[in-house]
Amino acid sequence: MTAPKALVAGNWKMNGLKASASEISKLNTLILEKGAKCDVLICPPYTMINILVSLKAINVSIGAQDCHMNMSGAHTGDISAEMISDLGCDFIIVGHSERRADHGETNEIVKAKAAAAQSVGATAIICVGETIEERKAGKALEIVTAQIKASIPESAKVENTIIAYEPVWAIGTGHTPTAGDVEEVHLAVREVLRARFGDGGNNIRILYGGSVKASNALELMSVKNVNGALVGGASLKAEDFYGIISAYDKIG
Ligand code: PGA
Repeated sequence: MTAPKALVAGNWKMNGLKASASEISKLNTLILEKGAKCDVLICPPYTMINILVSLKAINVSIGAQDCHMNMSGAHTGDISAEMISDLGCDFIIVGHSERRADHGETNEIVKAKAAAAQSVGATAIICVGETIEERKAGKALEIVTAQIKASIPESAKVENTIIAYEPVWAIGTGHTPTAGDVEEVHLAVREVLRARFGDGGNNIRILYGGSVKASNALELMSVKNVNGALVGGASLKAEDFYGIISAYDKIG
């Protein structure tokens, strides 16, 4: 059984002005000159998508950080999956813990957003993860598997679904779970995917996210059933992000 090709994805969150486009050009050049053994994606704020897509930095895919569950209508300030797809983006993150916490997004909402993304032909990157209280209470596996089961829509297929396991307490904190803890959760996620998709579940990418940086990427990305990373802070600068991408040079 061969693992799916790894994906290293950057989530710029609410960071990036027009001038930050130069980081994508730099990243593209680094990949051109030094290579990349994984797929590379950057999800900038909506305001930058068009600028980054226009760069035609062909080694870097551009995606979005969220979408509305409806395609159009009276939803002031929201952006639909169709609008994102219209710009040439094939990936949409849904259910990030910051959206779940800051905007009260439930599994039901996340599922509807993932369905919207998939209905326009995009791949949904569905994020799940436990809080520190849930981990301390020994409930990490229970919470994560329940989130996945409730957040994957009926429209999900192997080709249009990615899961990102991001322990909430590891995001932006510099703390990461041990390799053993990551392996345990990713195996549980894999089992849920196999139960749902059969053998195809082996081909769905499961990303790890939460304080990934160049110095810990090799250890975290080498864990069984980890098929890439979702990276926040360390994706903002091309050199830092390339340091994570290049961990794959050493992973067989
Ligand atoms: P971080 O964020 O890499 O800054 O911890 C990860 C994420 O939220 O996707």
